[in-house]
Amino acid sequence: MLYSVAAFATAILAWISYLFGLVFYRLYLSPLSKFPGPKFAAASKWYEFYFDVVLRGQFTFQIQRMHRKYGPIVRINPFELHVEDSDYWEELYTGSKEYERYDWMLGRFGANTTTSSTAKSDLHAIRRAPLNPMFSKRSITKFEPVIKEKVELLSKAIAAYREDGRLLILSDAFNAFAGDVIATYCFGFSYNHMESPDFIDNFHPAYEAVRKFAHLALHFPVAYLDLRSKIANIIDDKGVTHNQSRHPTIFSELLESDLPQQEKTVGRLGAEAQQMIGAGLETVAWALTTTVYHIIDKPSILKRLRAELEEAMPDSTVILDSLYLEKLPYLNACVKEGIRLSSGVSVRLPRVSQEKIMKYKDWVIPIGTPVSMTTIDVLYDQHIFPDSRSFVPERWLGNPKTKEGESLNRYFVPFGKGPRACIGINLANVELHLALAIIFRRFTFELYETDSSDIEMAHDFFVPSPKLDSMGLRVKVNAITVP
Ligand code: HEM
Repeated sequence: MLYSVAAFATAILAWISYLFGLVFYRLYLSPLSKFPGPKFAAASKWYEFYFDVVLRGQFTFQIQRMHRKYGPIVRINPFELHVEDSDYWEELYTGSKEYERYDWMLGRFGANTTTSSTAKSDLHAIRRAPLNPMFSKRSITKFEPVIKEKVELLSKAIAAYREDGRLLILSDAFNAFAGDVIATYCFGFSYNHMESPDFIDNFHPAYEAVRKFAHLALHFPVAYLDLRSKIANIIDDKGVTHNQSRHPTIFSELLESDLPQQEKTVGRLGAEAQQMIGAGLETVAWALTTTVYHIIDKPSILKRLRAELEEAMPDSTVILDSLYLEKLPYLNACVKEGIRLSSGVSVRLPRVSQEKIMKYKDWVIPIGTPVSMTTIDVLYDQHIFPDSRSFVPERWLGNPKTKEGESLNRYFVPFGKGPRACIGINLANVELHLALAIIFRRFTFELYETDSSDIEMAHDFFVPSPKLDSMGLRVKVNAITVP
């Protein structure tokens, strides 16, 4: 008995000494010890755990506070640096095609075999290559008739709320719309979520559950396993069966591509499908929700947009092709400003260089160190986008420049940049132009118990999330002209 107490005490003592040694190493001997930042963050990942898991998606805001105190480059945990300097974005993301993603951050959705969760740049390039043609402007234009059908369904569903005066949760409608579009492009069929009563059957709640859990899964990956089955119940392996639809689908093309056989397993393609649906659904739906909220909320913007749409589409029953819609300056500016404010993903995007030495100004970054930036830091940068939290489409008209005379487009980073940038830009742009043109050509809305707190980011759950008790973007519908 005495022996086991002594052994236990020795083990505890050894453990405590190890912890002291580890913290001492991280604070004073690690190659990152010269970088500024809070000691607690440098000592342990529990710091990040506290802000993201206990306080629920708050670390991204804490990083911003660190920058205010310590400057543009900070050590945010024992292993990683974060930069807040909009001018550094291009260098970090387009500096080298060899930069990798950070392994540790990739398992958060329980899969590390998908294109977006592939750390190594050479394997990433192999996995991305057969997807690229499906997301080209040309391919998306071929798919556009299907998107138009979905927009008509959306319009029909919204019109039904006008007829019976019910309250419409537009954010749910957008989740159903974006989910039906991306599922159809992936598999050749969708679950017709737009036809479900009050859009109740959309994918968003399942993805939201996984995302809310992802900070914990990052620190304890094993905890993920259980949740994975939740999503698997919704998205089954139909995505990897052969395509019988009238247009090419992402997964039929992947199957027919010359990807090596081991890259075509049901397991890998199933995981790819889950992430593809999530990537295409949540970002587009949130961009639509954000944009529509601001347009409804600001009568002068609504008036100007409607005038442009009425002139371009005198007959509201005819939906113009996106090719023409993208040439409407004010609609285009509204789309861009909506995407800017909705900001894509709110999580930081690390890059790691295994060969080339990275630098930030005079700071030399040790090889193998993950360096991250966050889209919201650039997109909400007051210096580049004055009054950055307001919806101001006018800032995109003409040939907009920063105070320094740089093109404003240089800082339009919601899709990321470089070899790992969003693959779905063309699809997202077509969806947003078509949906917004039809919605504001055919309907007017009154906000119902919805304010900016239902739209502004309060939590980072990988994508921006508003306050936890938000009831969504709720409106009463009035029609101007409905076919
Ligand atoms: C407003 C809409 C969208 C925004 C703002 C957005 C934003 C982003 C961002 C910030 C990234 C990460 C870039 C990086 O790590 O540097 C990304 C990656 C990705 N997005 Fe999007 N996205 C949108 C729509 C879509 C759509 C419609 C799809 C279609 C399926 C899509 C598919 C993907 C994929 C597959 C990746 C991973 C690319 C890779 O790792 O090679 N996204 N997106």
